[in-house]
Amino acid sequence: MKKLIAICFLLVPVIVSATGAGEHLMHVKIDLKDKRSLQHGAKLFVNYCLSCHSASYMRFNRVAKDLGIPRDVMKKNMLFVTDKLGNTMKVAMRKKDAKKWLGVAPPDLSVITRSRGPDWVYSFLNSFYLDEKRPTGVNNLVFKDTAMPHVLWELQGWQRPVYSEHHEGEESRKTINELELVYPGKMNEEDFQAATRDLVNFLTYVGEPAKLVRYKTGVWVILFLIVFLIPAYLLKKEYWKDVR
Ligand code: HEC
Repeated sequence: MKKLIAICFLLVPVIVSATGAGEHLMHVKIDLKDKRSLQHGAKLFVNYCLSCHSASYMRFNRVAKDLGIPRDVMKKNMLFVTDKLGNTMKVAMRKKDAKKWLGVAPPDLSVITRSRGPDWVYSFLNSFYLDEKRPTGVNNLVFKDTAMPHVLWELQGWQRPVYSEHHEGEESRKTINELELVYPGKMNEEDFQAATRDLVNFLTYVGEPAKLVRYKTGVWVILFLIVFLIPAYLLKKEYWKDVR
């Protein structure tokens, strides 16, 4: 038993480093019951991401139904890549072309918050910074040398890195301390963080849409159990009356 506990302790650092907990990530509060946030996230996703990324396990009409978006509003504001509400959220761009243009084909984002975690995606969207060495003109704090351009620049503006220098013996190393806004976008920092939070909230919903249904079913199950308790208790009393 002692050996087993020792092994578990030895494994902890391995598991922690494998999940990349060493990275400094921003924290995002996910709330799948916040319909307004999910609706806003859906709108941002369709407007800013769907041109490159698909969410091919999700259908437009399911999003409309789950998030309470009227079908005509959905049709008018969100159907750019297809004309049918029953279609999945696929991109029009062909994978081969995407690879040619961007160097890497943008991955499907259906389960991105499950593979990377919501905090990672949120930090990724918030930490693009100017880097003239990159073909896109930007780099990213949590995804070094990413091929993705800063597609939300209009909203966030442009950030530049502020370095700090460390001396290690003879050598000095420069690391990025923080990012500083050098050219403002349409939103201030707070609004931009709220917008990216809505986006990540939406992507989390996309990763597991059944969660919303489960919440609803869960409430009914608990209610049923509470109501059922009364006849169950009365029955028990009735049966045990004779036994005693
Ligand atoms: C111009 C095309 C383009 C647009 C628009 C775009 N992306 Fe990307 N994105 C990419 C490319 C290319 C990659 C692959 C980067 C790499 O592997 O270096 C990527 C990668 C990502 C990743 C990391 C995936 C992973 O785990 O490797 C996330 C998350 C992401 N994008 C989210 C978004 C979101 C959210 C939006 C909308 C706000 C968006 N992207 C808009 C091109 C795009």
